[in-house]
Amino acid sequence: MKLVFVFLFFFCLLQSCVCDDTIMRTQSMRDGDVILSEGKRFAFGFFSLGVSKLRYVGIWYAQISDQTVVWVANRDRPMNDTSGVIRFSSRGDLCIYASINTTEPLWSTNVSDSILEPTLVARLSTLGNLVLLDSVTGRGFWESFDHPTDSSLPSMRLGFTRKDGLDRFLTSWKSSADPSSGTFTYRINRTGFPQMIVYKGLIPWWRAGTWTGLKWSGVPGMARGGSSIFHSSFVNNQDEVSITNLVTDASVITRMMVNETGNLQRLTWAATEKRWNLYWSVPKEECDNYAHCGLNGYCDPTSSASFVCTCLPGFEPKMPRDWLLRDTSGGCTKKNNASLCGEKEGFVKLRRVKIPDTSVASVDMNITLKECEHRCLRNCSCVAYASAYYEGVGGAIGCLTWHGGMLDARIYMNSGQDFYIRTDREEIERWNKNGSAGKKRVIIIVISLIIAVTLVAVISFCFVRKRRESNRQRRSSTTLAPGSFDIKDPFRFEEDQGREWELPLFELNTITTATNNFAFRNKLGEGGFGPVYKGVLENGMEIAVKRLSKNSGQGMEEFKNEVKLISKLQHRNLVRMLGCCVESEEKMLIYEYLPNKSLDYFIFHEEQRAELDWPKRMEIICGIARGILYLHQDSRLRIIHRDLKASNVLLDNEMIPKIADFGMARIFGGNQIRGSTNRVVGTYGYMSPEYAMEGHFSVKSDVYSFGVLILEIITGKKNSAFHKESLNLVGHIWDLWNKGVATKVIDKLMNQDIHDESEVMKCVHIGLLCVQENASDRPDMPSVVSMFGHNANDFPPPKHPAFTSGRKAHVKNDDSTSGACFSGENSTSVNDITLTDVHGR
Ligand SMILES: *[C@@H]1O[C@H](CO)[C@@H](O)[C@H](O)[C@H]1NC(C)=O
Ligand SMILES: *[C@@H]1O[C@H](CO)[C@@H](O)[C@H](O)[C@H]1NC(C)=O
Ligand SMILES: *[C@@H]1O[C@H](CO)[C@@H](O)[C@H](O)[C@H]1NC(C)=O
Ligand SMILES: *[C@@H]1O[C@H](CO)[C@@H](O)[C@H](O)[C@H]1NC(C)=O
Ligand SMILES: *[C@@H]1O[C@H](CO)[C@@H](O)[C@H](O)[C@H]1NC(C)=O
Ligand SMILES: *[C@@H]1O[C@H](CO)[C@@H](O)[C@H](O)[C@H]1NC(C)=O
Ligand SMILES: *[C@@H]1O[C@H](CO)[C@@H](O)[C@H](O)[C@H]1NC(C)=O
Ligand SMILES: *[C@@H]1O[C@H](CO)[C@@H](O)[C@H](O)[C@H]1NC(C)=O
Repeated sequence: MKLVFVFLFFFCLLQSCVCDDTIMRTQSMRDGDVILSEGKRFAFGFFSLGVSKLRYVGIWYAQISDQTVVWVANRDRPMNDTSGVIRFSSRGDLCIYASINTTEPLWSTNVSDSILEPTLVARLSTLGNLVLLDSVTGRGFWESFDHPTDSSLPSMRLGFTRKDGLDRFLTSWKSSADPSSGTFTYRINRTGFPQMIVYKGLIPWWRAGTWTGLKWSGVPGMARGGSSIFHSSFVNNQDEVSITNLVTDASVITRMMVNETGNLQRLTWAATEKRWNLYWSVPKEECDNYAHCGLNGYCDPTSSASFVCTCLPGFEPKMPRDWLLRDTSGGCTKKNNASLCGEKEGFVKLRRVKIPDTSVASVDMNITLKECEHRCLRNCSCVAYASAYYEGVGGAIGCLTWHGGMLDARIYMNSGQDFYIRTDREEIERWNKNGSAGKKRVIIIVISLIIAVTLVAVISFCFVRKRRESNRQRRSSTTLAPGSFDIKDPFRFEEDQGREWELPLFELNTITTATNNFAFRNKLGEGGFGPVYKGVLENGMEIAVKRLSKNSGQGMEEFKNEVKLISKLQHRNLVRMLGCCVESEEKMLIYEYLPNKSLDYFIFHEEQRAELDWPKRMEIICGIARGILYLHQDSRLRIIHRDLKASNVLLDNEMIPKIADFGMARIFGGNQIRGSTNRVVGTYGYMSPEYAMEGHFSVKSDVYSFGVLILEIITGKKNSAFHKESLNLVGHIWDLWNKGVATKVIDKLMNQDIHDESEVMKCVHIGLLCVQENASDRPDMPSVVSMFGHNANDFPPPKHPAFTSGRKAHVKNDDSTSGACFSGENSTSVNDITLTDVHGR
C-alpha cells in the first residue's frame, strides 16, 4: 500500500504537464511529458508499472487515483530507462525511440503510405483514442482504437472488416505488472455465423456466443436494450462484422477488459469508494468452459442430477464407462447408429439454450423459423436448427442449421433461446413424457387463463362499442361544420383517415445498428436541421434517418405530437415518414429511403440534365405543385414548408418528385399562428422578400419558392449562383421577358419541339407570376395548379419580381455550401444578425 502511494507521488511529480491534447509534426515528447485529452479524462505519455523500471508509452485515466492503463503502444518492447522519445518519423509515422540518438524505432504507427501533409498531428480524443490526423482537413490516418490492447472503451469497435483485413480484438496482459501480450484473446471469429470467443492461445476457452439482437448469447448479464446506461450496436453486413459498446451517460467511467486469467469483465468506476466495480464478469461457472460436455453433449447447471452433463436428445455417450466416471471427452453419438433420414422424424425442443458453436452452422437470414424447420427436415445432413437473432425488434429472425457434431451447448436458468434437435418419433415421445409431469398443472392454469381472458374481452368489447358510438356522433357533427377547406380536388390523396393511428417509435439501438452507429459512409447529406444517414433495418428495409440538431427548442411530448401530426400527411409527392426515435437527447425522424438523388443533382449537372426532356420536367413541376397544394390545403394542418428548394425535392426510381423536410418548421417550434417568426428558416435564392426581410411567412412564401424552382427546372441554372450584369436568374429572365425574347432562357439540353415551346413559355409565365414582389399579386397554389391546364392568354401579365438586382450585396447565396440553410437564433454570421434584428421586434 505504501509503495503504491510512493509510486503515485513520483508519478505525479514526473508529469511536467504539456497540457494540450495534440503533438504537432515538429514536436517531440520526452519521458515525463504528458498530453491530456480535452476535458482531462485521459492522459497519454510514459509510465512504469509496479516496482518495475521498464518504461512504457500508453493511455491511462488522468483523474482516477487507481493507475488504470487502457492502452499500451510498445507493450512488447519497453524501454530500460527514461531516455525514450516520441516523435514523428520522416514518413509521417508516430514513433517511439529508445533515445534521442537512435534511428530505429521501438514502435511505430506503421501507416502503409507515407503521409506528406505538413499539418499532420497526433491528438488524444475525449474518448481516449489517439488519432493521427491532418489538422486542417480532419482526415484520419491511424487511430489507437483500431489497435486495442486489453481494454475496450465506450465507442470503440471490436470485430473485423471483410475487405481490408483489419481485425480489432483484445489481448490480455501477461500479468498486472507486465502489459506484454498474454495468452488470452477476445475476438469475433469469422468462420460460419459470427460469434465472439475468448481464446487461450489458439484454443477456444470460452464462447461469448452469437449476437442475439440485444446481447451476446453467452453474457446474460449484459445490458438490455436502450433502457439502461449501456447499450451495444452490432453490425453484420458485407463490409464488416463489429460490435460497438456505448454508454448513454457520458459521465459514467467504464471499460471492458479481458484479464490475464481469461475473464471478460465490464468495470465501472465508483467515484466515492475510489475503486473499480465489477458490473459483470464471464465465464462464471463450470458450464461456461468451452465444450465442457464434449461433442453432442450439453451442460445443464439447473439439472437435478449431480452431474451437469447430458447427451443431446437422440444421442448417447460414446464411451459409457468414461461418462459414468465423468470423463466427457468421448462425447455423445447417435443412438442405435440411426440414420437420420427416415420419415417418422421430428424435432425435440430444448428451452433456454445457448446454442452450440456456430462456426460449423449454415445461416440464412431471409427465412422464418417455420421455413427453417422445413429446410432442416428436407436436408438429410441437418441435425438441428435455431433462429439466428431472437431478441430483435421484429422478434426472432433468420435460420441456423447444423450438419455435424455440435459443441458447447448449455442451458440457462432464465436466458437463452429455443433449440430444435432432429430425432425419431420414439425419442420425441420419450422427451414429451419426461416433460409431462408438470403438464396437468399447466393445463389447469391455461384453462383458468382462457376463462379470465374471455371475461375481460367481453367487458371491454361492450365498453369500446359504447365509446365508439358516442365518438361517431361527435365526428359526424364536426365534418358537417362550416368553414372547412374541403374544395373539390382533382388529385389522389392517400391520407389514411379512418383508423386510429399510432406513431412507430424506433429504439435508439435499432437506429444505431441500422446506420452502423452513424458511420460517416452512411451519411447521405447535411440539411439545415441536421445530418441525414442511410440505414438498413434488420429486416432488410432501407431507411433514411434525419438526426435533428439538438436545439429544436421542444420538449419530448411536444415533439412527439408534432411528428405524429406530420406523419399523418401522406401523399404521392411527399416523402413518407415512417416514425421517429426520441431517446436520451437524440431526436430522429425516420423516412423511406429513395435511391435516386435530389432534384438539384439532376438539374444543375449537365450530364444528368440531358436525361430530362420536357415532358419529364413538366411531370416533375406538376408533381411538386401537387405536393405543395396538399400541404397547403390539408384542412387540419396547413403546413407551410418554408424551405422549398431543389435539394429538398427527392426523386424516386420512376422520377416521381417527393418533397422532403416538410413540417420541419413546425417541429422546430416555429409559431404558426402568428404567421411571423423570430427565426428565419430557409435558403437564400428561394426566400420571398417579405419572409427574408421581415420574417412574415404565408402560403405565398412557398409559392415564391415554387416559382424559383419552376424557373430553375426550365433553365437548368441556379437562381442564387447566377450572375449576369448584376442580375440573378429571376432578374435575368424578367429582363428578357420584357424584351420579348424570353425563349432564350430555355435550357438547350431539353431538345423541345415547337409545340413544346409554347408550353415551356407558359411555365415561365407561371413562374414569373409566382415570384412577383408583392405577395398578394402571387397566385395561390390551387390557382397555380389550375393554370397548368389553361391557356396562357388568360393569365395576367407578371409584375416586377422580387430580388432582381441591387439587393444581392446583403444576401448570402448558397452556392458554396449546397443547401446552406439557416436558423437564425444561434448563428453568428453578420447576415444572420442583421436578419434577427430586423424582425426581432
Ligand atoms: C533493455 O535491456 C535488455 C537486457 O539488457 C536488452 O535485451 C534490451 O534490448 C534493452 N532494451 C532497450 C530498448 O534498450
Ligand atoms: C547523442 O549524441 C550526442 C552527440 O552526437 C552525444 O553527445 C550524446 O551523449 C548522445 N546521447 C545519448 C543519450 O546517447
Ligand atoms: C510495419 O508493417 C509491415 C507490414 O505491414 C511489417 O512487416 C513491419 O514489421 C511493421 N513494422 C513495425 C515497426 O511494426
Ligand atoms: C475460427 O474458428 C475456426 C473453427 O473453430 C478455427 O479453425 C479458426 O482458427 C478460428 N479463427 C480465428 C481467427 O480464431
Ligand atoms: C480475473 O477476473 C476474475 C473475475 O473477476 C477474478 O476472479 C480473477 O482474480 C482475475 N484475475 C486476476 C489475475 O486479477
Ligand atoms: C454405424 O453405421 C456405419 C455406417 O452407417 C457403419 O460403418 C458402422 O459400422 C455402424 N456402427 C455400429 C456400431 O453399428
Ligand atoms: C434476402 O432477401 C432480399 C430481399 O428479399 C434479397 O435481396 C437477398 O438477396 C436475399 N438474400 C439471400 C441470402 O437470399
Ligand atoms: C444440406 O445442407 C448443407 C449445408 O447447408 C448443404 O451443403 C447441402 O447441399 C444440403 N443438402 C441438400 C440435399 O440440400
